[in-house]
Amino acid sequence: MAILVTGGAGFIGCHTCIELLQAGYEVIVIDNFSNSYPESLNRVMDLTEQKIRIYDIDLLDKSSLDTVFIENNIEAVIHFAGLKAVGESVAFPLTYYQTNIMSTIYLCETMKKHHVKNLVFSSSATVYGNTEKVPISEEVRLSAMNPYGRTKIMIEQILKDLYQSDPSWGMALLRYFNPIGAHPSGEIGENPNGIPNNLMPYITQVAIGLREELMIFGNDYPTKDGTGIRDYIHVVDLAKGHVKALEKALTKTGIEAYNLGTGKGYSVLEVVAAFEAASGKVIPYKIVDRRPGDVAISLAKVTKAKREFDWIATRGIEEMCRDAWNWQTKNPQGYKLME
Ligand code: WQD
Repeated sequence: MAILVTGGAGFIGCHTCIELLQAGYEVIVIDNFSNSYPESLNRVMDLTEQKIRIYDIDLLDKSSLDTVFIENNIEAVIHFAGLKAVGESVAFPLTYYQTNIMSTIYLCETMKKHHVKNLVFSSSATVYGNTEKVPISEEVRLSAMNPYGRTKIMIEQILKDLYQSDPSWGMALLRYFNPIGAHPSGEIGENPNGIPNNLMPYITQVAIGLREELMIFGNDYPTKDGTGIRDYIHVVDLAKGHVKALEKALTKTGIEAYNLGTGKGYSVLEVVAAFEAASGKVIPYKIVDRRPGDVAISLAKVTKAKREFDWIATRGIEEMCRDAWNWQTKNPQGYKLME
C-alpha cells in the first residue's frame, strides 16, 4: 500500500517524504513543479536509498489524477499541493481559489471514487487571522486576513462537510506555524523562487551574500523588543508530525484540526541573534515600516497533537538556524544549478 503525497517536491513535502520512507511506507508523489524542483526528490531518493514514483501532473487534470489511483494501490493521501504566497494571493485571488480549492475537490472526488478515505491536509496558522488570544488553541474562531488564508479556511470547511456526508473518512487538518530549517544533511531545504517572503530564507541569503541586508518589518509592536513574535518549528519536526497524524487518520475515522508548532515564540531580533550565533555571520539589518497584514504575536497551543497522536516538536531555535545555514552554504543557488 502506498501513500500519495501531493506537492511532495516542495519544502515541507520532500522532508515529509523522507520521514514516510524511513517509516517504511511506499511513497508516490504528484507535483506540477510550478514552485518546486525535481532535484529535491532526487535527493530524497539518494538520502533514503529508496525509490519514489513521481507523476509530473496538475491536480486540476482529473484524468491524469485518476490514472495515478488506477496505477497505484493508494492507502492514504497527504495533500500539500497549492499556492501559498500571501501577497500573491491578494494580487491574484481567482488563481488562488481555483488552484487551492478546485484541486482539493478533484482530489477528494477521485479518492472517493477509488475508496481511499484517509487524508492529511496541509493547513496553516494563517487561518487564525489576527487573534489576540495566544497561545492559540484549535478551537479559536477562524478568520483569515487574505485570499490565501481564506482558501485554507474554505478547504477545511469543505473537508468537514465531506466528513458529515460520509463519516467513514479519517482526516487530519494540520495548521503549521512557522516552518524553518532544513534536513541535517543539508541536501534538501527551503528554496523560494525570487525574493524570499519569509524571514529565515531571507536571513540565509543575506548571510551568504545574495542580499545586502535584512529589512525588519516594524519594531513598534507590543512585544519584548518591538519586533514580531512567531512560533518557529523545525521542518523535520513538522515532517514527523505528518507521519504521526497519518497513522491516526489511518486508524480512526473522524476529522480534527491540530496545531503543529512548538508553543515557544521568538522575536525577529531574537531569530537574527540566534542565527548569528549558529552561523558565525553578522546579519546587517534596517528597521522599516510594518508589513500590512502582519500580527504582533503568533504562538501555538500544542497540547492537542501531543494528546491525540503523541507528537511534540523537539528541535530548538539553535538547531533550526544551524540546519538552515548548512543547507544554504551547501546550495548557494538552491536546486537551480541542478536543472
Ligand atoms: C515572520 C516574522 C515578519 C520577512 C507566513 C505566512 C503564513 C505561513 C508562514 C504559509 C514576521 C518578519 C519577515 C522579512 C521581517 N505561510 N519579517 N522581514 O508572516 O509569520 O507567516 O509564513 O502557510 O501564511 O503569512 O512568516 O517568515 O513572513 O515573517 O521582518 O524580510 O518576520 O514581520 O514578524 P509569517 P514570515
